[in-house]
Amino acid sequence: MASGVAVALAGGGAAAYGLADRGAAGDSAGSDDSVGVPVQLRGILPEKYVALIALDIGRPHGALRELVKQVRVAAEPDTSVGFALGAKLFGPEKSIPRRLKAMPHFTGDLLDPAMAHGDVLAHVASDKAAAIQKTVERLRNTTSPHWTIRWHINGSRPANRVEDGRGLARNPFHFTEGFGNPGTDRESLSRALISADQNEPQWAVGGSYQVVRIIRFATDLWDKDSVREQERIIGRRRDGGWLDGTPADEQPNFAADPTGRLTPLDSHVRLAAPDRRTPPPIVRRSYSYDRGNGDTGIIFSCFQRDLTQGFEAAQKRLEGEPLAKYLLTTGGGYFFVPPHGNKWIDTFS
Ligand code: HEM
Repeated sequence: MASGVAVALAGGGAAAYGLADRGAAGDSAGSDDSVGVPVQLRGILPEKYVALIALDIGRPHGALRELVKQVRVAAEPDTSVGFALGAKLFGPEKSIPRRLKAMPHFTGDLLDPAMAHGDVLAHVASDKAAAIQKTVERLRNTTSPHWTIRWHINGSRPANRVEDGRGLARNPFHFTEGFGNPGTDRESLSRALISADQNEPQWAVGGSYQVVRIIRFATDLWDKDSVREQERIIGRRRDGGWLDGTPADEQPNFAADPTGRLTPLDSHVRLAAPDRRTPPPIVRRSYSYDRGNGDTGIIFSCFQRDLTQGFEAAQKRLEGEPLAKYLLTTGGGYFFVPPHGNKWIDTFS
């Protein structure tokens, strides 16, 4: 095991989950520590920087253990490392999480296979950009007969902060994101983590389905629109306030605006969450990316206990929304975040 590799919890995150008293013990390839929430979902506020690295394994048997170990060895101190599994990893003899499949093609997608899917998704996060960069470099220089890097993308969360119990960040469209997420960690985890009554394989209980969508923005086009036009497309003000004057952290009165005079019926938020009492059962933790040459956008990432009721239901409602004309989804995938600990690795060894 990578005994020298410190894999720290984000301090605030640990405290937010009441885990601080257990210390900031990290994952290790050889131990199964007691902090129960998967790394990707810890804390209210995601770390400021992330690298998502999708890897392919020829044969999972044994190779998965090796891969996990090598990623952890490559990881700098001050990073947290989590893993998620793609559908292809599961041979017929393994009990696959019921909803896991390759991410389908949605209307308007232009998926580049070289930037989509993968057997394993390593999630390396840190509040220090340099730690991410060094980890990725080290991993790129690691050779293995067992695995190859399929794709990789770096993300960041500008103006990363917590307000009223929600993790917020600014996206490249100049809007603040995160208000629609749950305001408590209990609610976040109940939306994201699979429970024992879901008829999922026993080993998958406590895990989560993760959807990653690499969504490129037509920033030039967007920036030509007035702020008012942009706000009507999103359905919120840039700072999160509602278009009917309701403060960002309260619920708007859509019932009083049935024709969409104040907040258009086809705005992003009205389509994404039409029923304010029953919000979409997903937890969004997205990052912005900038790959140069105007290739900027969002690494949309959300977690849920059920893919159909979670991401897929919201995505379906958003099909054809006015925002779509500024977006191009070029990559990503569906993955399964195993429950915290190392027991899942044994399933494949
Ligand atoms: C790049 C594309 C996207 C952009 C720029 C974007 C932007 C935003 C913004 C600014 C908000 C309002 C603030 C907030 O609640 O976080 C929001 C809310 C939301 N978005 Fe998106 N979003 C994008 C893609 C998606 C996708 C793909 C989904 C799911 C399929 C989604 C689902 C939601 C949901 C559920 C809300 C919360 C609505 C509420 O509770 O009021 N978004 N988004």
